[in-house]
Amino acid sequence: MRWWGRITRRAPISEATDNHEDPSSAHHEATAGRWVDAGPASAIESDSAVVLDSDATGLDDPIALFHTADGEFYCIDDTCTHEDASLAAGWLEDCTVECPVHLAAFCLRTGAALTPPASEAVRTYPVRVTDGHVWVLVEQ
Ligand code: FES
Repeated sequence: MRWWGRITRRAPISEATDNHEDPSSAHHEATAGRWVDAGPASAIESDSAVVLDSDATGLDDPIALFHTADGEFYCIDDTCTHEDASLAAGWLEDCTVECPVHLAAFCLRTGAALTPPASEAVRTYPVRVTDGHVWVLVEQ
C-alpha cells in the first residue's frame, strides 16, 4: 500500500492573472471559455497543489490546481462537496485527492466523489501546459 502524499504547498496565485490570452490562438484549437495563466509549470512543485482564487479566475469560488508525482496537472473545484474544506490542503496520491476534513476521496480526472461522506462530484477544468506555463480553461 502506498501512503498518501501530503500536499506541501498551498498558496493563492492571483498574480498570475495579468495575461488572460487564450493559448488556443497560438497553439491549440479554438475552445469556448477563457484560459487563465496559472504561472510557470516549474513553480508548482510535484506532488502538490496551488489555489487559484477568484481574483485569478473570475469565478465565484476558488479552484485547485494539482501537480501529481508523475508530472500531470489537473484542476478541480477547491471546495469539497461535503462541507466547506479546501481540497488543495488534502492528501494527493496518483490522480486522487483526499479531503483533509472527513477524508472523502475525489478523482482528479473526472471530479467524481469516490468515497463517502461526499457523494457529489466536483467540477473539473481542462489544463494545458504551453511553453512552460500552465493554463486552465475557465468557462464563463
Ligand atoms: S468536508 Fe470534505 S469530506 Fe467532509
